[in-house]
Amino acid sequence: MDKPTGLRKGLTSYGDQGFSLFLRKAFIKGAGYTDSALDRPVVGIANTGSAYNPCHGNAPQLIEAVKRGVMLAGGLPMEFPTISIHESFAAPTSMYLRNLMSMDTEEMLRAQPMDAVVLIGGCDKTVPAQLMGAASAGMPAVQLITGSMLTGSHRSERVGACTDCRRYWGKFRASEIDEDEVADVNNQLVASVGTCSVMGTASTMACIAEALGMTMPGGASPPAVTADRIRIAEQTGTQAVQMARDGLTIDKVLTPAAFENAMRVLLAIGGSTNGIVHLTAIAGRMGLEIDLAALDRMGRETPVLLDLKPSGQHYMEDFHHAGGMATLLRELKPLLRLDAMTVTGRTLGEEIEGHGAGFNQDVVRPITAPIYPQGGIAVLRGNLAPGGAIIKQSAADPRLMEHEGRAVVFENTEDLLTRIDSDDLDVTAQDVLVLKNIGPKGAPGMPEAGYIPIPRKLARAGVKDIVRISDGRMSGTAFGTIVLHVTPESAIGGPLAHVRNGDRIRLSVRDREIALLVSDAELARRAQESPVTVPSAARGYRKLFLETVTQADQGVDFDFLRAETMVGKVPEQP
Ligand code: FES
Repeated sequence: MDKPTGLRKGLTSYGDQGFSLFLRKAFIKGAGYTDSALDRPVVGIANTGSAYNPCHGNAPQLIEAVKRGVMLAGGLPMEFPTISIHESFAAPTSMYLRNLMSMDTEEMLRAQPMDAVVLIGGCDKTVPAQLMGAASAGMPAVQLITGSMLTGSHRSERVGACTDCRRYWGKFRASEIDEDEVADVNNQLVASVGTCSVMGTASTMACIAEALGMTMPGGASPPAVTADRIRIAEQTGTQAVQMARDGLTIDKVLTPAAFENAMRVLLAIGGSTNGIVHLTAIAGRMGLEIDLAALDRMGRETPVLLDLKPSGQHYMEDFHHAGGMATLLRELKPLLRLDAMTVTGRTLGEEIEGHGAGFNQDVVRPITAPIYPQGGIAVLRGNLAPGGAIIKQSAADPRLMEHEGRAVVFENTEDLLTRIDSDDLDVTAQDVLVLKNIGPKGAPGMPEAGYIPIPRKLARAGVKDIVRISDGRMSGTAFGTIVLHVTPESAIGGPLAHVRNGDRIRLSVRDREIALLVSDAELARRAQESPVTVPSAARGYRKLFLETVTQADQGVDFDFLRAETMVGKVPEQP
């Protein structure tokens, strides 16, 4: 017997399937649907619009266009809500909720009858959450990005969230601008709805989604409020119907080749370090392990080509005017797996060909004249991070990438807040700031607190960068010589837990090393003297989170959400 489709899928259990369908149709007819409409392929549309999420402020227009596309192709669009997460409206941190959103997405895709789904996401955690959930649900799925915000203008200077937010806040902290000016710029940094306009995590995940083959071609770059974005939405709806008819399920798209392409793109765009964590989590849902050592090797042969802030100077709307991902992928073509399937049913190579020849522009550099000679992200190892750590070398100060200094330790974010701006803080520009307990279990949720502010007394003296190390993350819009994702984290007793003020730490990006210059015996003695207490909670989501969250090298996913068996590595081993 053929598998049920459309409204007949996944009937509610009443012990009588005929009655279940009869009842379902009776209820939906209460909304005015005809039998003819209900016989069509059903395309679910995951609506993540929320008053708390201005990055998804164009969701109503996108949904209208997706519905149009679905109906033009003869399908029935069914919009449904899931939770939505915005970076600045999620306490303690949006990352704490990413896995919850992925569970919501997965279970709603399973529970409700649909033959394909359009996932509308944009703000940092939403796209990874949706891809993780859809990967586990296993149906035809296509990602629709909300698109970037427009840039604003502050006293004739072009500004956009959030690299410029950090820059102006840094100026304010250093008393270079006053309260009136910081209030003025606050009105200009986010000039419209949409996601952050630089190569932060949202833009990174948009580019990664297209590199994975999970969006329509050209789906990463159109700004939120443009006609191009609406057209992509309509095309997405139409294609979702085709995917339902063709049975183009997500496992045919999210292959090792697709993840390898995504790794290349992450490196070549100078993408957010968060991209690694999310990509690892999405791959983990497909039973694939991202090989960090291989990512580092790929980085040595994959230059940064995209000239966007914070590594470069442009904004997402400029990338779109320069041809978007088609321009980048054309330049990267020799390094890509062109056989990877996309949601269009054509391969990535065919899609690149389909975009034709490029044109003159100055946002995507040719591979012969990159903005940075290696990939944006380097993977570090050493006795301070046996499970690895990362640094966004393209956004770091070259003078600090080979550095040895004295540790100035903060035990947690409260300790940091209390002391970082004190005139009594014993710190110089040659020191290494160490922040503990902001890892997956420590904070919890691995907040973006790894961008430790420059101590006020150093900022006032004109210091713009200092080596910083933590087990947390940082925003993709941030810059500096900042070592992140130290694994294992301090809260579960990783070596970071036992760093003390005055210890010497050596960072060598050239040798990919992060070393604590303290003997193993002394570290063991400290571990015995001050054992850590692993965080726990008595109830609720926090309990689930603390008991099951994995470390950064496994994507900070919950252990029970990863695929039951791991089937391979990315890139594929010969
Ligand atoms: Fe939503 Fe930056 S806060 S993308």
